[in-house]
Amino acid sequence: MFALIPVLALLAAPVLAQSNGTASTLDIEGLQANFEQAQLVPQLLQTFDPTAVLTVTFGGQAITIGQNLSQSAVATFPDVSVTPAGNATFEDGTLYTLLMADANAVGTDQTTTEQTRHWLVNSVSLATASAAPYAINYTGSTAVTDYAGPGPFAGTGSHRYVVALYEQPSTFTAPANLSAAGTPLGTWFLPSYVQEAGLGDLISANYFQVENGVATVTPESTTAVNSATLAGAASSTAASSASSQASGASSAAGSASKSASGAASATSAASTASSTAAKSGAGKQGVAWGVVVGGMGVVGAIVGAGLGM
Ligand SMILES: *[C@@H]1O[C@H](CO)[C@@H](O)[C@H](O)[C@H]1NC(C)=O
Ligand SMILES: *[C@@H]1O[C@H](CO)[C@@H](O)[C@H](O)[C@H]1NC(C)=O
Ligand SMILES: *[C@@H]1O[C@H](CO)[C@@H](O)[C@H](O)[C@H]1NC(C)=O
Ligand SMILES: *[C@@H]1O[C@H](CO)[C@@H](O)[C@H](O)[C@H]1NC(C)=O
Ligand SMILES: *[C@@H]1O[C@H](CO)[C@@H](O)[C@H](O)[C@H]1NC(C)=O
Repeated sequence: MFALIPVLALLAAPVLAQSNGTASTLDIEGLQANFEQAQLVPQLLQTFDPTAVLTVTFGGQAITIGQNLSQSAVATFPDVSVTPAGNATFEDGTLYTLLMADANAVGTDQTTTEQTRHWLVNSVSLATASAAPYAINYTGSTAVTDYAGPGPFAGTGSHRYVVALYEQPSTFTAPANLSAAGTPLGTWFLPSYVQEAGLGDLISANYFQVENGVATVTPESTTAVNSATLAGAASSTAASSASSQASGASSAAGSASKSASGAASATSAASTASSTAAKSGAGKQGVAWGVVVGGMGVVGAIVGAGLGM
């Protein structure tokens, strides 16, 4: 029975209490803890101070943070909605950029490995006229890169797909090379794009994982944080069981970090291949492939067949 405790800790889904349309402090803490555990913070996002929870729903099923999903389950663009934290206000007329980036497997150095851009929509708004959670309103937006479902290369481990919503300043102008609707998926450094585009606050983000086949390197994965172990839950009745679950979770985290170097060497091979392809002008060949879903859901064609990311 004791041996089951760590397993239970890994399976515990993060609590997302959204029934009243307000994200609790614990929801926000859980989001931050999951991003740190997945090493997305500070690897991809140097800081992460969300003012909302981002709900990402594929085929009517909202994902849990970091959920493992099949490629087919995420082939078509998700519904995205925003549940503000208690003290956050979202004003009418504010525009946002919605995007999805493949941050590869844990252990890939995200400061030196580009992320694949799977989705980039400028100038969306939030349907704040109705009660939260606020749906994304695409009216007047520009789908620079239409949603392209994940297509990780076999054996490259569990890829982390980050869906993020940034505030756009009123003076926003899309960078020249990423302003035209219908720009195919490609690679970029997300933080560089955010800086070049002059995007504002990261309102919130969520992520899921997709793995193709069995990793040929020491596999790494990230597990959900048990929200009962977070400070914000200390006063709850879950506190007594939380401490035993926490030790299971931390030993899992320890073994994950030990295998990090193995994955890093494998993924650096992938990034070398990708930069070689880019230098040779191979275009889409150096880029992940994905199933492009045109506009708001018309199934398009398979683009490219190069490195899976
Ligand atoms: C909504 O519920 C959360 C807990 O689930 C609570 O922290 C928050 O205060 C509630 N908000 C309102 C407006 O009742
Ligand atoms: C909301 O409250 C949290 C603490 O409860 C604080 O860390 C955060 O900065 C506040 N955000 C705003 C926008 O006031
Ligand atoms: C979406 O945005 C358009 C343009 O700003 C607006 O006319 C429309 O009412 C919005 N729809 C919703 C559901 O908020
Ligand atoms: C767009 O151009 C900038 C230079 O202005 C460059 O740094 C960036 O890598 C380019 N982005 C893409 C996706 O090609
Ligand atoms: C994802 O799957 C891996 C096994 O492939 C497992 O170790 C990990 O706990 C799972 N992560 C989540 C968040 O369910």
